[in-house]
Order: sequence, then structure tokens, then C-alpha cells
Amino acid sequence: MAEHEHTTGIEALANEQRTFPPTEQFKASTLVAGTQLYEEAAQNDEAFWARQASELVHWDTEWHTTLDWQLPYAKWFDGGTLNVSYNCLDRHVLAGNGDKVAFHWEGEPGDKRTITYQDLLDEVSQFANVLKGLGVEKGDRVMIYMPMIPEAAVAMLACARIGAPHSVVFGGFSSQSLADRIDDAEAKIIITADGGYRRGEVFALKPAADEACEKTSSIEHVVVVKRGGNDVEWADGRDHWYHELMDGVSTDCPAEPMEAEHLLFLLYTSGTTGKPKGIMHTTGGYLTHVTYTHKYVFDLQPENDVFWCTADVGWITGHSYIVYGPLSNGCTQVMYEGVPNHPGNDRLWEIVDEYGVTIFYTAPTAIRTFMKWGADEPDKHDLSSLRLLGTVGEPINPEAWMWYHDVIGKGNCPIVDTWWQTETGGIMISPLPGATTTKPGSATFPLPGVSAELVDDEANVVPVGGGYLTLTRPWPGMLRGIWRDPERYQETYWSRFPDRYFAGDGAKLDDDGYLWLLGRVDDVMNVSGHRISTTEVESALVSHPSVAEAAVVGATDATTGQAVFAYVILRGGADADEQTLRNHVAGEIGAIAKPKRVFITPDLPKTRSGKIMRRLLRDVAEGRNIGDTTTLADASIVDELQSKAAASADD
Ligand code: WT7
Repeated sequence: MAEHEHTTGIEALANEQRTFPPTEQFKASTLVAGTQLYEEAAQNDEAFWARQASELVHWDTEWHTTLDWQLPYAKWFDGGTLNVSYNCLDRHVLAGNGDKVAFHWEGEPGDKRTITYQDLLDEVSQFANVLKGLGVEKGDRVMIYMPMIPEAAVAMLACARIGAPHSVVFGGFSSQSLADRIDDAEAKIIITADGGYRRGEVFALKPAADEACEKTSSIEHVVVVKRGGNDVEWADGRDHWYHELMDGVSTDCPAEPMEAEHLLFLLYTSGTTGKPKGIMHTTGGYLTHVTYTHKYVFDLQPENDVFWCTADVGWITGHSYIVYGPLSNGCTQVMYEGVPNHPGNDRLWEIVDEYGVTIFYTAPTAIRTFMKWGADEPDKHDLSSLRLLGTVGEPINPEAWMWYHDVIGKGNCPIVDTWWQTETGGIMISPLPGATTTKPGSATFPLPGVSAELVDDEANVVPVGGGYLTLTRPWPGMLRGIWRDPERYQETYWSRFPDRYFAGDGAKLDDDGYLWLLGRVDDVMNVSGHRISTTEVESALVSHPSVAEAAVVGATDATTGQAVFAYVILRGGADADEQTLRNHVAGEIGAIAKPKRVFITPDLPKTRSGKIMRRLLRDVAEGRNIGDTTTLADASIVDELQSKAAASADD
């Protein structure tokens, strides 16, 4: 595993000297070439956000109070009313852009659909009428469990149109994860599909939705889009085909104005306990934040740009930068159903070429995978339409940044490394591509309107060097709470440091004031840009009848950033092999949480007070020599684990 040592780039950051100012060519047509937005926001951030809200968003009623801040609860644009789906659809059609393409959609097998703003408005309106017909009312929660097909965006926007908060669950999550979220949200309806395409095959979704219905009691209807063509079981009365419900339904469904603080969606994300948190996002502030950041971070020129964010709608990135931000800005996008290596490793570059993608937004883990596949793959296609590249989800190592810059961007495209979280709703720390000189591996500076500071353990501000990342001012896209768990909201984000939002990330400020994100400082792993809690995987392992105890760590991985390593003690007399336990976790949580390795061990390294020493387990997983073990209850266990890890490294 020695080859993993230099791959995070974290060590290399200290010496990174390269700088990339925006090119003259880029600056010539950029929205913001200077510091004016920073200066305006620094004068008065509330007034700055109010200007964005009134310029970028259509309001049915003006707000009376820009910000009502009673830490940790914010109300933005109180008194204002608006409809998110009106902002994403109707206003563009009314402005004469109904024929403009909203989505160039491409299915994994190669089927294509072109969807204009008018098409999308009609289909969303119809589906909103369908939902009403099924008894969905303002405030009712709707689960969405779908592949990357246009109907996923239609479902989200239809919910927004009638004020029914959606909760999208990534299609890779298991029926158990879906059931937990249904229960927590007390959802009435699931919108799903028979299946979708992935790696050349159909993966079924409907059976997991069926199982989730059996495990829960609140679901009244299941709406099923036909996509995979796979056989499905059917519960008459409960299950409905999407295309049958839509047949002949009116395309007239006026968008009802919602209060600015009306719940737009819940999105569940992992925390440091076994139970995922239902992150709450509301209407006016969220839409303002994502519209503003999508416009300025991506330097959007809606007449010419073709934007492609490769995320799945099941994650916040898909919510904010496939559905709400880009559609609110009226831009043309690419949406792709499948994996990047089907049928060949050049699939994404073929798509960039085919649709003339100008702005490409992806995750560092994907970039490292493209690096592994080699420059020949992108070189098979004309990528000259690209003018701006973005990354999100985890720290990007300078080596991957340079490859992205040189091989994909041909040295002509600025890179925006965007730091944010499910909780922040939209991008918080990022270059403005026409104004900021970038450094490979640094997310640079907080955006205009955003205030961030690093602090040490005692909450002292750290002006230069390493510290904990905190946000010091409320922002419009911020989470409004954790669904039905105000204490956890207070405790998780607002308790560690007084008057500050604690993000859970470590970071470093260099001598020039650039921010370098260094990864999570809590028990949260980041695997391929997906957030997975160590505790959640441990609970999944312990739920197996053969497992007595489990400890899980995220160990550095060259491609996925971190990989899940598990150490498991079996119950007396019980038997289970590594493969069984890996599959068990996939079944409990979903394939994304499947451990890379499960080591079965007679014991775990613990302190004398019984705390599992995760740091030591990480050292073992990463093949490092471990130092001081004098606080260990039984130091010999470490030798044993190390020899197991060493043996597996030779496999
Ligand atoms: C965590 C949030 C934001 C959408 C995708 C993930 C890490 C995110 C960056 C970045 C370094 C990053 C942080 C953060 N992260 N972007 N540009 N550089 N780290 O959303 O699942 O809510 O995870 O992802 O650790 O806390 P999420």
C-alpha cells in the first residue's frame, strides 16, 4: 500500500507554488473580472444578498425583512413569496425562450432526448396535476428514488410547484436506507422507476421501493416510470405507471406562490452517528443562493453555454447544480444516465464533443480515474468547446488539478474548486474564474457574501496555518435545521465554537490568505465524494448475526480519496467471511458504503478506557509504521493487524 502515500496531495500542498491567473481571453468576456462583488458584499452582506435575490429571482410578493437571525435559526426574505418551479420554467417560457433546450439527455445505451423549457414546463405541470390527483398537498413529503432520467427533475420540480417537499434518495441506496428515510420523513408517496441503466445492464429500483413499502406504513402511492423494461411486481391500487397517470392530463397547473421559508426539500446525509440527518432547505434563500453561485462561479453566459454537472440528482450537487441553479438561470444542460466507462472509457468526452459542452463540473475522484485511464481517451475527441472546469466533493490533489487543467482544459480553462456541503445548500468557497488567481489544490477564498474563518481548539481565530473551518455569518442557502431534531442541529453545527457554524472540515490558510481544505476532522469518511459515517457502517456490520464488534476507518485511497476499511470481531463460535460481510453492508446501506476490506480479528486496539483507537487502525490500513502504543490495552493486537494488512497488500 506504499503507493498510496503520496496520493492525497495533502502533504504536497505545503510546497505548491504554481499560480494561474485568469487568461486575457477568459477575462475579455467574463461576468466579473475585478473585486467589485467582494467589496460590495464586505460593506453589507445582507444588502448584497438582497440585491442578488431581487435581481436573480422572480418574487410574487416582496419580502419585508431580508434576514431575521436568531442563532442558530435564520429566516431569509421573510414576508416574500415565490415559486421555485415558476422561476425555473415559466419565467423563461414567458420571456420567449420556450424553444431553448433545457436538457440534452443521453441514456447509457445511447438513446437521446432533447427537452426544451416549454416541454419541461408542460411535463412538470402535468405531473404536478397528477400528484394533486393522488392527494398530495402542500407540505406533504414525497420520496424520489430514481435513475438519472429527465423524470427525476420533472418529479422534483412538480413537487416544488405544489409546495410538497421532496426527499430524493440516491438510487444506489438499499431498501433499508430508503425505508429509514420514509419513516423519518413520514412520506406519503414514492416516485421511482422500474430500473435504470448502469454499466450496460438494467439495475432494478422497484423491488427496493416495494421492500421499503413493506417495512414502513406511511406510503399510499408508488408512481413508477418505465425505463429499464425489467419485470416488476405490482400492488394494485398502490402502484401506478407514470405514463398512464400522465395520459391526457392538463398541462395547466398555475404555480402557487410559497412563503420564502416554506420547506422545499429534505436531503438525508450522514453524520457521526448511525442515523442520517434530514437536512432542511427552504424556498427563497436556497433559490437565491444556488442561482447566484451557479451564475458567478461558472461565469454563466446563458445564451452560449452548455453546462454539464456529472453528479446524480440523489446528492445535493444534483439538486443545486443540475436542477435548481441551472434551470433558474435558464441555461442549457447535458444530463447523462450512466457510468463514465460504458461502452468505452471515453464516453464522457464523446458527450462533451457531441453537445459542445462549455462548462464541465465533476469530482476529484472521477478526475483521478480519468488520469488512470490515460490522456488517449479524451484525446480521441474534440474538447475545444470547453471554457471552464469545476470540481467538488473532496480535496483535489495538485497532481489531479494539473492533469485536469492540461489534458482536459488544454491549458485554456480556469478551474473552480468549489467547497460546500449538503448543509450549505450551495457553493461557499471557490474562485470567481475571471477574477481569482488560482493555485492547484486550493479552493481559494470565500465567495462574496460568505464569511469563513479558521479557529483552533480554543476557538481562537487562526490567521495563517491549520485550523477548523467555521462560517461566521448566516447565508441564504444554509440549512434551516435537521428534520424533527432541533437538538441535533444545535449540537452538530453550533455548539463546538460559540457563534460559529462548524463545518466538520480541517483547512489551512497560506501566507497569501488562500484556503486549502484538508478533509473531515470527524468520524465521517469521504469515499468518491460521498459522505459516509464510520458509525453507520459499524452499525451495519454489527447488525450481522455473526458480528460482535466492528471498527471502521477511512483510509487514503489513490482513486476514491478514502476507502472504507473495517475491522470485525466475530461472535464466539460464529463464522462469516470477508465477502459476506462486505455484501451485508452493501445490502444494509448501499453499494457506496461497501468496505474495500474487512479484516476479521480477535480483538481491536483500545485505550485503557475502552475507546477504539481509530487513528491506529487508519495507520495500519495505510501501511504506516505506528508509533506510540503505550496507552493501548493490549499492544500485541496491533502487530497482529499489521501482519494481516501486510499479507493482504501482497495479494
Ligand atoms: C463535505 C460535504 C458539496 C457537494 C458534494 C459533497 C467535502 C466538498 C470540497 C472541496 C475539499 C470538499 C468536505 C465537506 N468537500 N467539496 N472542494 N474541497 N473538500 O457534499 O456529502 O455534503 O459533503 O465534502 O469535507 O464537508 P456532502
